[in-house]
Formats: sequence, C-alpha cells, structure tokens
Amino acid sequence: MERLHKYLARAGVASRRKAERLMLDGKVQVNGQVVCQPGSLVDAQRDEVCVEGRKLSLPAQHSYFIFYKPRGVLTTLADPQGRPCVGDWLSKRHGRVYPVGRLDYDTEGALLLTDDGDLVNRLLMPRFQIPRSYVAKVRGKPSSEALQQLCKGVVLSDGKPALALRAKFHRILKANSWVVLTVAEGRYHLVKRMFEAIGHPVLSLFRPAQAGISVLEMRPGQMRALTQEEGVLLKAVALGTRQPPLVVGLPARVAGVFASKE
Ligand code: URA
Repeated sequence: MERLHKYLARAGVASRRKAERLMLDGKVQVNGQVVCQPGSLVDAQRDEVCVEGRKLSLPAQHSYFIFYKPRGVLTTLADPQGRPCVGDWLSKRHGRVYPVGRLDYDTEGALLLTDDGDLVNRLLMPRFQIPRSYVAKVRGKPSSEALQQLCKGVVLSDGKPALALRAKFHRILKANSWVVLTVAEGRYHLVKRMFEAIGHPVLSLFRPAQAGISVLEMRPGQMRALTQEEGVLLKAVALGTRQPPLVVGLPARVAGVFASKE
C-alpha cells in the first residue's frame, strides 16, 4: 500500500502537493469512490484510480544492470552443455532481464542486462548507429596507415565491407599493442574480423563500457544495478540525445595484479 498522493505523482498526474489538492477538490476516485482524505492509501497492483474520470496507470518499471562479463562465459541465459553463462549470475532479484546484445565467449567487459525491450532495440538496431568502443590487444604493431585503413573501410573475410569510426593506439608493448576501436554496429565477430583484415589478429578483446556505462571500477564477474545517473545517461544514449562518452581502459586482470607480466 502507498499514499494516494504519492501514487498520483508516480503516475505523472501532478506533483505530490498538487495531487493532494486534486484529492481535496474531490477529483480523485479509487474503485469508483471519491477519496479526499489526506493520507489515504492505495494498492497500486489492485486498485483502480481515476482522476476526473480518467483511469491511471503507472509507467512500466524496468530494471537495468551492468555485468563485467569474464572471459570464458557465454552471453546466454542458459547453456544446454553446462558451460558458464550469464544466466549463472542471475537470480530472482534481477527479474526477467536479458543481455543487451552479445560478446564472444572469450571477450570480456561491459554487458548491460535489462527487461526494457524498447531500450534494447534502440541500442542494437543498426539504423541508430550507436558507437561501441573496444580495446583490442592485437599481434604486432599496426602501422598508422593500417589504423587509418580501418576508418576508411576494409573488406572482411566474407567479402563485406566494414568501417571504424575511430582507431587509435592505447598502449604499445614489445610484441603486441592495445588499440581502441570504435564501430557503429554489432556484426558477428566484427572487431576480430576487422583486425584480421589488416593482418593483426586479436589476441584479447575487452569492452570497457556499453552505451557509456563503464566496468572499469568493477571486477570480472561483478554485476550491479545502474545508478540513477547512469540510468539517465543510458536512456539519453538510447534516444540519441547524447553520444556515449568514450571510456578507455584495460581489463582488470591486466590493469591490476598482472600488469607487470604484460
Ligand atoms: N567484436 C568481436 O569480434 N567480438 C566481440 O565479442 C565483440 C565485438
């Protein structure tokens, strides 16, 4: 049960104070009865609430989580072969959320989970062109021409073209390098195939953030609800009113304890 004036505010009728005014004016009905007593309670699941004859409903409440997917975990809710999958991290308290897109079994990093189908569509549909950035450890050191080629366009092994929005070195090691690649679509193995096309195969792939929601402060295998600020950012990115901020960093295992072995 909750206070009727709070329910009215949640349903978007008016502020709590104005909602109380509407009640005092006799404009609010619960199950067909006018309710004007301040402090009256309502059961949002069961009661029918009307304001000036108009039936109210609450906006759908959705859940949003960010998961630091470890390497060696499938982006599925279940696996018939019993391999580790994202579903292993979900319980009743997460509700009916599912992953927003997919990461390869051996890719680690940010994976959003939600039950908000509209948001998922907007984030994934190619026509919305929402940028996705990956940090890839590739064999050798690509020339700057090769990185430029990724932005001009390359032909993948299936004969189809692919284009990066941005390709920049993040760190250059003795035998390998970490490159930040931003693309605007989510095709199968896209990043791996793009680096394959310039002759520098991916050795390790990390997504530091999805739609601007970062896992850089998290540990692999950690799942958490989005903060309110992150929720606002996510919706703005999905609607196209904000570009996702570029988040760049190395996987926890590399940035942390194993950094000296790189
Ligand atoms: N591109 C890939 O090749 N793999 C991923 O997991 C994500 C993007």
